[in-house]
Amino acid sequence: MKLLILNGPNLNMLGIREPDIYGKSTYNDLIEMIGNHCKTLGVDVEFKQSNHEGDLVDYIQAAYFDKVDGIVINPGAYTHTSVALLDALKAVQIPAVEVHISKVDEREDFRQISYVSKIAKKTIIGKGFDGYIEAVDFLTQG
Ligand code: DQA
Repeated sequence: MKLLILNGPNLNMLGIREPDIYGKSTYNDLIEMIGNHCKTLGVDVEFKQSNHEGDLVDYIQAAYFDKVDGIVINPGAYTHTSVALLDALKAVQIPAVEVHISKVDEREDFRQISYVSKIAKKTIIGKGFDGYIEAVDFLTQG
């Protein structure tokens, strides 16, 4: 079982960006937490983060050729704009879970649309870093 944890723009700034919304823990803390969890499950995991939409599309396509079994994706702001990410996920047909650290449903109007939600098997919002753990568990254990 192999998973890809894919984070979009500004998620490398966790711990620095708007800590009242996203918390004080860093991107490295997030990776460590998910990595430890995957180790206990015996799951192979790869982490990618990019601030560039095309890079994220490339990582999704590469996951197909690398025979990745599941994708946990937090597309950041591209959630609300990117048909390209939706199309990439449709192209590879790898089960994906969408995660948002914050309560997007209680935030600005422009955050109420998610293109990725149209293909995601599950969307987890507002659970902080624990949302990623829930996503891993969903993809590995159903
Ligand atoms: C986010 C929510 C998005 O609206 C925002 O643009 C982000 C992070 C979240 O994890 O809560 O960058 O995806």
